[in-house]
Amino acid sequence: MHRVTDRALVADVARVVGDGREARWIVEHAAATGLDAAGARQLAVRRAAGEPLQYVLGTWPFRTLELVVDRRALVPRPETEAVVGVALDRARALGRPCRVTADLGTGTGAIALSLAVEAGRGHPDLEVWATDRSAAALELAGENLARLAATDPGAAGRVHLAAGSWYDALPDRLAGTLDLIVSNPPYVAEEELPGLDPEVREWEPHQALVAPRGRSGVGGTADIEAVLSDAPRWLAPGGVVVVELAPPQAYAAVDAARRAGLSGVTVERDLAGRLRMVVARR
Ligand SMILES: C[S@@+](CC[C@H](N)C(=O)[O-])C[C@H]1O[C@@H](n2cnc3c(N)ncnc32)[C@H](O)[C@@H]1O
Repeated sequence: MHRVTDRALVADVARVVGDGREARWIVEHAAATGLDAAGARQLAVRRAAGEPLQYVLGTWPFRTLELVVDRRALVPRPETEAVVGVALDRARALGRPCRVTADLGTGTGAIALSLAVEAGRGHPDLEVWATDRSAAALELAGENLARLAATDPGAAGRVHLAAGSWYDALPDRLAGTLDLIVSNPPYVAEEELPGLDPEVREWEPHQALVAPRGRSGVGGTADIEAVLSDAPRWLAPGGVVVVELAPPQAYAAVDAARRAGLSGVTVERDLAGRLRMVVARR
């Protein structure tokens, strides 16, 4: 972080955005990226218009990464950092090296690139597949992959980007070979959309947020069910699937995992203690 030297500018920006801490971040970011006071004020005006701070700043931390974020994809959330933490623990507990993994619905690439860096340590043969149905999201993931290539070419070289709906994006040869599937699919119920914070509802892509009701009848679970129901065909024996969800969806997801024939089905909590992911194995 750069030291804030221009207190007057911070005060000026704080008046625009109405928040002293955000003002310091904006001014520090402007200084770090070579913007002058006018540039910092432009960022402040965007923030004051309701744009998420992460999009205004243009990059946001996720675990070990600093990701480019913009309207092409969802802003990666701290809950998802916890999902990656559980996935890495399960990968270590496989009893064999984790060789092939997929992040379905990769958005910025947050999960896939984290797996490539963190699961890839000491495992140069690891293959990471990052998929999305959104061409715009995949383009952004590609930009984040290029940034990673500049600092960690080994990790970046493990990542394959692939377009398509859920497992359709993967080459057939991967069927029955995945050691780890991780997904943070859309899981906001359609009826919840109008009540979402306007910062989310008006700025983040709806196809990244909202999913139809699933077979369970629980709102927003259709994509969670889609990822779980085909997991057995793509997982290697003993392979693990980890899917993010909202707390009220946990039991519907457990049912979907069991119906799919997966075993060892558990629900894990995020750092705030909320039920946040279903974990199961083939
Ligand atoms: C909740 S966002 C998660 C993004 C990223 N993994 C993260 O955690 O920040 C869901 C992602 O799934 C993608 N998606 C939605 N429907 C999809 C589908 N049928 N197949 C593949 N990806 C899909 C969206 O484009 C979006 O990028």
